[in-house]
Amino acid sequence: MDNIRMSAERLEKSKTLELRKKHIGPSCKIFFSHDPIKIVRAKGQYMYDEKGQRYLDCINNVAHVGHCHPDVVKAGARQMEQLNTNSRFLHDNLVLYAQRLQATLPDKLSVCYFVNSGSEANDLALRLAKQYTGHKDVITLDNAYHGHVSSLIDISPYKFHQLADPEENQSVHVALSPDVYRGKYRADHPDPATAYADEVEDMIEKVQGEGGKIAAFIAESLQSCGGQVIPPVGYYQKVAEHVRKAGGVFIADEVQVGFGRVGTHFWAFQLQGEDFVPDIVTMGKPIGNGHPMSCVVTTKEVAAAFLQMGMEYFNTFGGNPVSCAIGLAVLDVIKKEDLQGNALHVGRYLTDLLEKQKEKHPLIGDIRGRGLFVGVELVKDRLKLTPATAEAQEVIYKLKEQHILLSADGPHRNVLKFKPPMCFTTEDADLAVEQIDHILTELEEAGGLKLHNTLNAENENKRKPTDENGHHHSGLAHNKGSSQGVPQQTKRLRKQC
Ligand SMILES: Cc1ncc(COP(=O)(O)O)c(C=O)c1O
Repeated sequence: MDNIRMSAERLEKSKTLELRKKHIGPSCKIFFSHDPIKIVRAKGQYMYDEKGQRYLDCINNVAHVGHCHPDVVKAGARQMEQLNTNSRFLHDNLVLYAQRLQATLPDKLSVCYFVNSGSEANDLALRLAKQYTGHKDVITLDNAYHGHVSSLIDISPYKFHQLADPEENQSVHVALSPDVYRGKYRADHPDPATAYADEVEDMIEKVQGEGGKIAAFIAESLQSCGGQVIPPVGYYQKVAEHVRKAGGVFIADEVQVGFGRVGTHFWAFQLQGEDFVPDIVTMGKPIGNGHPMSCVVTTKEVAAAFLQMGMEYFNTFGGNPVSCAIGLAVLDVIKKEDLQGNALHVGRYLTDLLEKQKEKHPLIGDIRGRGLFVGVELVKDRLKLTPATAEAQEVIYKLKEQHILLSADGPHRNVLKFKPPMCFTTEDADLAVEQIDHILTELEEAGGLKLHNTLNAENENKRKPTDENGHHHSGLAHNKGSSQGVPQQTKRLRKQC
């Protein structure tokens, strides 16, 4: 073990930090910036720092089948010893992988383009949509994140909302996030799916009225950075109907949530029902278990229109034999270890544990999830849904002190996100939830927050101070029990996707 440690750590931690500050772009942020973690190796759902300290990884959906899974590592190494080249040569790995991937999808989605990152996949998806439809307007959801390249920053409110004065792209239209907890239409609405879809229909009519033409509606099948939002069943079918009627296509971004994570299905868009088939699906992160690969899958018709444009599509690394060998190994491991089944089983166990915590902790406003994709929304009162942003950050920092890695996201950074490697166990769930329980108890005691308070939130709030946004706050964050050396809330607020 010491040998592994020594070989993996080439520099003292302080030197690593110093060189990073000097040579790495300052906008490349680091987790826990006041006390960053240096990870030197990882296995399964665990990561290890330079001192051999183990961390439980509750957030890394890229290491889908477990960090450094030996089957995946071997498949990549074996292929690297033999050949790596581009897809202009015939190679079995490319076609076998495309065939295996297609077998997980509805028949209609049969044509693959291999690329190298989620951003590349979504950028290509937009090109396909625009070429196929001859239109250029795109509808995206509020709080969405679809990637870091220019075309995707334009359709990622999660990012452009960070700018004081974002440059508006007139062809991009932002629809409501179909959030039934905090959004315009909530769980008590008789038909939130139709209500949210009607908003999209209205938006389409408005765009058309102003001379625009819809090329695509793009959305994550379940919104991740947007706050672990689970759209109501039937919403995407209805949206697809409106979008197709306007001549556009539906792009499902599965970069975060695909490959069996939701437990009941291999693809998260399938949660909407058998009758829903997107026109384009984009994949990334888990597809290569950490190896940079990604894919766009579409219909023959869309692919034919892209060909008719007359321009060759070439991608130096996309679909190379090494990537495809790795992709095949990932699919094999998901099947061999029944990781989709594990996501269902452990995901339910985790959600049940968290539901019990909700009965106990006033700070927990909502638990939502499918499989091993779970969100815990923290609020200061359950009636007003005032986001408990500082408390969520406090939970994350204190969990880190207990060597558990979790993150908080969503527009208010108050949603704790679980999206661990799919080999996560019920024991891991017990450990994480037990610690969350301790931390919330401490925070609530410090703030004098009790469950019955939330039932009288209106009256309670009259006695509580308000923050600069007019939000009432419980005074929980930096009182007794606050972590030492933790920076103030404003410094911690950081977009994480
Ligand atoms: C939903 C979604 N789509 C696309 C991307 C972009 O992927 P990449 O960072 O691999 O370019 C991300 C990255 O976080 C994402 O969360």
